[in-house]
Amino acid sequence: MNLLLLTIIAIAEGASIYNYGFSENSKKIGTQEHLFQYLAGNAPYFKYPLDYGINLPIPEHCELKQVQLLARHGERYPSKSKGAKLSNVYQKLQNYTGALNGSLSFLNDDNYHIFWEDTSQLELEVTSKNSLDPLNPYTGEQSARTHARQFISLYGDLLEENSTLELFTTNSKRVHDTAAFFAEELDNAVKSTHMNIISEDSSSGANNLSPGYSCLPWDEDENEEYLSKYSSEYLEDIADRLNNENKNLPLNLTATDASSLFVWCGFEISVKGYSDACNIFTDAELLHFSYEDDLYDYYQDGPGHSLAKPIGSLLFNASVELLKQSDELDQKVWLSFTHDTDIINYLATVGLFDNGKKLNASSVPFLDHIYRKAWMTPMAARLYTEKFQCSNETFVRYTLNDAVIPIESCSSGPGFSCPEKEFYSYAEKKLDGMDFVKACDIKSSSNYTSLSFYWDYESVNYNASLLIQ
Ligand SMILES: *[C@@H]1O[C@H](CO)[C@@H](O)[C@H](O)[C@H]1NC(C)=O
Ligand SMILES: *[C@@H]1O[C@H](CO)[C@@H](O)[C@H](O)[C@H]1NC(C)=O
Ligand SMILES: *[C@@H]1O[C@H](CO)[C@@H](O)[C@H](O)[C@H]1NC(C)=O
Ligand SMILES: *[C@@H]1O[C@H](CO)[C@@H](O)[C@H](O)[C@H]1NC(C)=O
Ligand SMILES: *[C@@H]1O[C@H](CO)[C@@H](O)[C@H](O)[C@H]1NC(C)=O
Ligand SMILES: *[C@@H]1O[C@H](CO)[C@@H](O)[C@H](O)[C@H]1NC(C)=O
Ligand SMILES: *[C@@H]1O[C@H](CO)[C@@H](O)[C@H](O)[C@H]1NC(C)=O
Ligand SMILES: *[C@@H]1O[C@H](CO)[C@@H](O)[C@H](O)[C@H]1NC(C)=O
Ligand SMILES: *[C@@H]1O[C@H](CO)[C@@H](O)[C@H](O)[C@H]1NC(C)=O
Repeated sequence: MNLLLLTIIAIAEGASIYNYGFSENSKKIGTQEHLFQYLAGNAPYFKYPLDYGINLPIPEHCELKQVQLLARHGERYPSKSKGAKLSNVYQKLQNYTGALNGSLSFLNDDNYHIFWEDTSQLELEVTSKNSLDPLNPYTGEQSARTHARQFISLYGDLLEENSTLELFTTNSKRVHDTAAFFAEELDNAVKSTHMNIISEDSSSGANNLSPGYSCLPWDEDENEEYLSKYSSEYLEDIADRLNNENKNLPLNLTATDASSLFVWCGFEISVKGYSDACNIFTDAELLHFSYEDDLYDYYQDGPGHSLAKPIGSLLFNASVELLKQSDELDQKVWLSFTHDTDIINYLATVGLFDNGKKLNASSVPFLDHIYRKAWMTPMAARLYTEKFQCSNETFVRYTLNDAVIPIESCSSGPGFSCPEKEFYSYAEKKLDGMDFVKACDIKSSSNYTSLSFYWDYESVNYNASLLIQ
């Protein structure tokens, strides 16, 4: 529908203004959405697949009191480090352009080139200006704008047309740019918007919207020994298959190269709207890759890591405070933009996707597999905390990526929400024993031992310089 519209507009405006013209790519855009959920959060946004059938808008006859958003930046180019790995594979293959067989034969096309024009695009949000295909409907810019309009439709009652709305973002350029596109759309609904740009640097200590970065003791490899038990056979199989399809060439693709090809597939869709690289994989291989991502995420940033919950407690505690103060605080809408890992840490603390079972490295699970990283934090992920009143009672509810996610132990309210008082005791239990400052030894790296930006933005100028990293 969107695609058709875009195509018609492009024809009407004369697509020849673009160097790209109507590429083969354009016809294929929109045909790979079924793959997004397997691509480790590198592919474009998709709705949370396990929708329980609960209406997204708050229940009828209820009145919104407050809404909080914790959002990931939109569709982006790969990071510099992933870009370097992808470049390596590309160079290996490019030596044989014209002679490749099988699922790599798309590289034989002279018009095909790697999906960035120069390395300065790495790390950045995909925008209408820098997207490699003008018909790419999945740019980070577009998803931020669409999201903002949906926000206005769901929560516009809380916006005050004559006041300034404060937004909060980290100083990562792509995170900031997502917030800025979102704010541009909100400018139609409020007098003005103002961005508070919070430094990601560890010197920000606890006054940080990306607390993982200020937790210096966090060790990514804490569970590496266990994680290394996950079989890489599926990657070796892919490398063997590609090498065999091209056995007259000394391709020598490795398991690591095969893993990079999944990253290629995901990011290329975000940048161009379609990726031929995705056709390399079988459905089983996509599942193995996707579960490997869940497993690593669980043990590096999720409930399986000893510091994930303490890190997530910083923002969760602030969220609970904002809920408690909803009557006193003038602003009823709290919009915050950060990275996927920060949302993952936060979700670990809240416990929305933690059924108490540790993810297992010995096989891909099917029953009881609720911990899906790509479902939680696809590009442009959005976690909302809603507070609403129905007759004389108040309730709290989460929605994630356009689906209501009830709290398993507290969903007796309208729309499977949690009665406010019960929510606070739930939160108290989850925050019990969590001490971000202590667990992350914040005092040794910063003088900021509490999160204050939601409360002191009027007196403190949060204007950190943007970083491309
Ligand atoms: C590609 O070919 C060049 C020239 O033959 C060679 O130097 C280079 O090592 C090859 N690159 C890879 C990654 O195989
Ligand atoms: C907003 O300001 C305009 C112009 O001052 C005024 O006409 C309008 O009534 C105000 N709206 C609200 C909701 O206060
Ligand atoms: C590609 O396949 C054809 C037909 O099977 C074969 O003749 C050719 O050698 C293969 N190319 C490579 C690079 O292996
Ligand atoms: C690829 O592997 C073959 C056989 O293992 C080896 O002879 C050749 O040197 C390798 N080529 C490259 C470019 O690494
Ligand atoms: C939770 O937030 C409140 C208000 O900002 C603060 O006073 C309290 O110290 C915080 N608790 C923790 C454990 O960080
Ligand atoms: C994983 O599964 C294996 C085999 O069922 C079992 O022996 C092992 O204890 C499990 N590990 C974890 C961390 O649950
Ligand atoms: C809400 O109103 C009902 C009916 O008037 C009453 O029974 C109930 O106690 C009230 N609940 C609260 C939380 O005030
Ligand atoms: C804390 O503040 C003092 C005084 O401004 C400064 O000398 C010190 O370097 C700061 N410590 C850290 C860890 O930032
Ligand atoms: C932020 O604002 C302060 C106070 O106005 C100013 O001194 C500082 O240079 C600004 N920093 C940036 C990065 O703009």
